[in-house]
Amino acid sequence: MAKPVSTKPRAVADFKTATDLLNVLPMTAEVKNGHLYVGGVDMVTLAREAGTALYVMDEETIATQLSDYIKWTRYHWKEVDVVYAGKAFLSRAMVQLVDAEGCCLDVSSGGELALALSAGFDPARIYVHGNNKTDEELNECLDAGVGRIVVDSFEELEQLSTMASERGIEQSILIRVTPGIEADTHDYIKTGAEDSKFGFGLNSGNAFRAVKRAAELPGIDFEGLHIHIGSQIYALQSFSAAIEVIVAFIAKIRDELGIETRLLDTGGGLGVAYGVPDEPATIKEYGKVVIDDIKEECEKHDLTVPRMAVEPGRSIVANSGITLYTVGVIKVIPDIRTYVSVDGGMSDNIRTSLYDAHYEALIANKADQPRTITATVAGKHCESGDIVVSDGPLQEVERGDILCVCATGAYAQSLSNNYNKQVRPGIIWVKDGTWRWVVYRETYEDLMRTDAVEGVCP
Ligand code: LLP
Repeated sequence: MAKPVSTKPRAVADFKTATDLLNVLPMTAEVKNGHLYVGGVDMVTLAREAGTALYVMDEETIATQLSDYIKWTRYHWKEVDVVYAGKAFLSRAMVQLVDAEGCCLDVSSGGELALALSAGFDPARIYVHGNNKTDEELNECLDAGVGRIVVDSFEELEQLSTMASERGIEQSILIRVTPGIEADTHDYIKTGAEDSKFGFGLNSGNAFRAVKRAAELPGIDFEGLHIHIGSQIYALQSFSAAIEVIVAFIAKIRDELGIETRLLDTGGGLGVAYGVPDEPATIKEYGKVVIDDIKEECEKHDLTVPRMAVEPGRSIVANSGITLYTVGVIKVIPDIRTYVSVDGGMSDNIRTSLYDAHYEALIANKADQPRTITATVAGKHCESGDIVVSDGPLQEVERGDILCVCATGAYAQSLSNNYNKQVRPGIIWVKDGTWRWVVYRETYEDLMRTDAVEGVCP
């Protein structure tokens, strides 16, 4: 349940202008005539023309992050797949950009797979995830001819073997291993610990049994292993610790089963800057640590270095995106707090309510002014926990201002919902002074499209 904000007033005005917030904004962000510009487009004019609430994403930032991952992983090892994790944000335009940059795609549901295929993505470059893939989804994967399925349970392994054998094919798979590593991040987004609904535990012996079984089963080609220790990770040592453990496991598989691991996928998880003081590791630093560690650990165990894969989501899109809102009601509660309400909230960004996430906000039409007040940016939903920014610095604000929340490109739209029958915002991509819709804003008709009247679907 969403937590109500504390009632202790906290003065955090920091006198920063938008120019001091560039580390959390898209790479093309700039201030001109007091307005915030992204991709050469005036965010104030755009908000007024296209309407709010609105997600805006900078195409150049996304393309740069994708190509940086390719560059800084392949700089250290020639055979690395950069597999964009679609759960962070997915649309057909995104799928096409991922393709254009030469990356692979991670999908984790039948819906994500259908979207990727409808955008023309090569199924051979798709990795499929999920701790409870339905039989229907597994069939869809085999029908499509996806490259790799990351197997998460014994049931799935047996089921996939039956399905693939019936079709007379060998499906390439990875076994998802939970390496027993506690990443330094929020509890809800840790995934590598032994007590997890994901994957096969290493310490319990389940991972070893899964590899053994995979090698025996017909219709299954055991290609390698997968780990993902969590998300929004700042400490690169967490990745190093997991790599040490998983490469030792690869050696054990070779020694005790005589099986070669041809592919090692180390998952996603690199953290991003949400706040002004945040200093996450760069993609360049991440690439060096992860790829070099795998090579070094392999050398230690006298292993042939396998093909590698990394699965970034957040670090590709988070800082490419902002959300624009129009300011409505402003409520000043003396000695307690100032609530600035916007025309969206937990329906378009639930991360603050869900994870206590921190965001920076600014007034896009006063981008050159210092943030002199402390305000809580609240949504319009019927819930006290519907907060987007809890006690943050902001410029002097008035009704009708365009409020920008920074770094919302990852896990905001993909976690969005229709609470209070709120229509979901559209998404606009900006580039070189132009903009285009990549996802339209929902309409009231969209909300009612699946609503059955007297048992009859309209
Ligand atoms: N690979 C797998 C198997 C994953 O489960 C995830 C994220 C990724 C890759 C991408 O991780 P990233 O690079 O984005 O950290 N809703 C949460 C995040 C959940 C992450 C789920 N898995 C949030 O808003 O913070």
